[in-house]
Amino acid sequence: MEVFECISKRKSVRSYTKKQVPKEVLEKVLDAALLAPSAGDIHPYRIVVVTDEEKIRRIAEAALNQVFIAQAPVVIVYLVSIEEASAYGRRGVELYSLLDVGASMENLMLAATSLGLSTCWVGAFDEKRVEEIVKAPKGYRAVSITPLGYSDHVPRAIPPPPKSEKVYYDEFK
Ligand SMILES: Cc1cc2nc3c(=O)[nH]c(=O)nc-3n(C[C@H](O)[C@H](O)[C@H](O)COP(=O)(O)O)c2cc1C
Repeated sequence: MEVFECISKRKSVRSYTKKQVPKEVLEKVLDAALLAPSAGDIHPYRIVVVTDEEKIRRIAEAALNQVFIAQAPVVIVYLVSIEEASAYGRRGVELYSLLDVGASMENLMLAATSLGLSTCWVGAFDEKRVEEIVKAPKGYRAVSITPLGYSDHVPRAIPPPPKSEKVYYDEFK
């Protein structure tokens, strides 16, 4: 799929079919996630691929009961390693590591879109509960989640914000 088409096709999907994600498709999506840029090429995160139904149900609960998450056959959880992120001190922990996850998540989501899959970035969740569910070792912080699966509808296109409100040339005015 052409890159601009893929970018505009990606939409947050909050309703999934039960269709399983083939292993080779999942691997391609994960390859794309790891091809993202990362400060110092450290990639200070781990990606937990959750397919266990009970764990997925508990993650949905921990995500303020966003029940659509539990419809998906796969849930991806990103965890940041505080120790690895510390390579760049406080800035590494508070900024770079989260930007790295953002870049990787977007790669993952675009790759998923190009392969006919859908996603929805989920940031509203109880970090401690999610860390417990995926058995994160001490020093790992759960920072982002997305369900991964097949949409049961064609997602509604929400127009992007007007360029005139978000983009400036030469100076912020
Ligand atoms: C950091 C972040 C956190 C988000 N958290 C949630 C969430 O908890 N639940 C949800 O349904 N959508 C969440 N979203 C998705 C946004 O609501 C969505 O991207 C936005 O409405 C634009 O729609 P689109 O993704 O279809 O373009 C989140 C997105 C981002 C980037």
